[in-house]
Amino acid sequence: MKRIKRIGILTGGGDCPGLNAAIRGIGKSALYHDGIEVVGIRDGYQGLIENRVQKLGIDELSGILTRGGTILGTNNKCSPEKYYEGRDESGTPLYSNAVDRCMSTVEEHSIDVLFVIGGDGTFTCTKPLVEAGLRCIGIPKTIDNDIYGTDLTIGFTTATRIGTMALDRLHSTGNSHHRVMVCELMGRNAGWLTLASGLASGSDVILIPEIPFDIDNICAFVESRRSDQSGFSIIACAEGARPLGGEQVVSMHIEKSHDPIRLGGIGRHVATMIEEKTGIESRTTTLGHIQRGGEPAATDRVIATTFATAAFELAMRGEFNTMVALCDGHIEAKNILDTAGKQRLVPKEHRFIRAARAVRTCFGD
Ligand code: F6P
Repeated sequence: MKRIKRIGILTGGGDCPGLNAAIRGIGKSALYHDGIEVVGIRDGYQGLIENRVQKLGIDELSGILTRGGTILGTNNKCSPEKYYEGRDESGTPLYSNAVDRCMSTVEEHSIDVLFVIGGDGTFTCTKPLVEAGLRCIGIPKTIDNDIYGTDLTIGFTTATRIGTMALDRLHSTGNSHHRVMVCELMGRNAGWLTLASGLASGSDVILIPEIPFDIDNICAFVESRRSDQSGFSIIACAEGARPLGGEQVVSMHIEKSHDPIRLGGIGRHVATMIEEKTGIESRTTTLGHIQRGGEPAATDRVIATTFATAAFELAMRGEFNTMVALCDGHIEAKNILDTAGKQRLVPKEHRFIRAARAVRTCFGD
């Protein structure tokens, strides 16, 4: 096997806490191992297509473990197979296949292995590059925790901590005013973030995409609590939650994106319906990008460093086109193409759901 002399690192998709810890873990492993050189690709695949590459040395990789975001920048709109080139005279968007441009960047900078820190969208984008000859290793990250093949992703535990803190704070104000407080959390089509935050905060109602809700069941539940001393209720609502037989609420369509739908708005809808049907004053808080920002929790620093250094070991062993994964407490290597295009959703009988139901949490079903 050809000796690895230079590696590249790219962060793709939405950012999350712990990306810099992963960049540092890969980069320092390489630099301390026989002096392999390290370069970073700016802004995800956009930088690979546009040949925006920077050298990463010990100076660039030091002091970043605790920082949120990504020092490389990222992008959750750009795909090598569908690169947005602007519009033609009639205003129609123009796209091109930029796989060759990506491969030219890889060749020009002599990148022997590309480490891709991303989610399912980013890994799906690697497919044509792998077919074109790229050697890559994937590291799973997303606050949604929805990557197929791994029990945990970088960013999830920090986002859960933020979600829990927000729900905890809504408790005291909801209690004081005897209100229903609905908090909308991110997570796309997966309920992991809302479920874990709801469980950790003791939310009264948890609404997730995997369990469509009946608003009348929720109303009956919050009314049953009205007779309690305070009568307030806390509802953790995933942005992807939907009523039985109904649709998810889309907040925007991003034309340039290969994954154009952004969810949002269901929390407000649920609060409005509850107030209309029960007369209980209801308020909505949407956490939005607060869940993705800021410094990583200790757990994410640990998992990011562990994933990153394990990914480097895979490269050293020549196990390319794999993704590091946490499975039942063990680090494993999965075929990156097997994880692409799939989502890991919450199983209806998951132990978190059973635990929540055991303490009388309502799922609206
Ligand atoms: O995938 C991470 C995530 O934060 C989702 O939870 C959310 O639906 C989406 O990204 C938001 O994307 P954007 O940053 O483009 O608004």
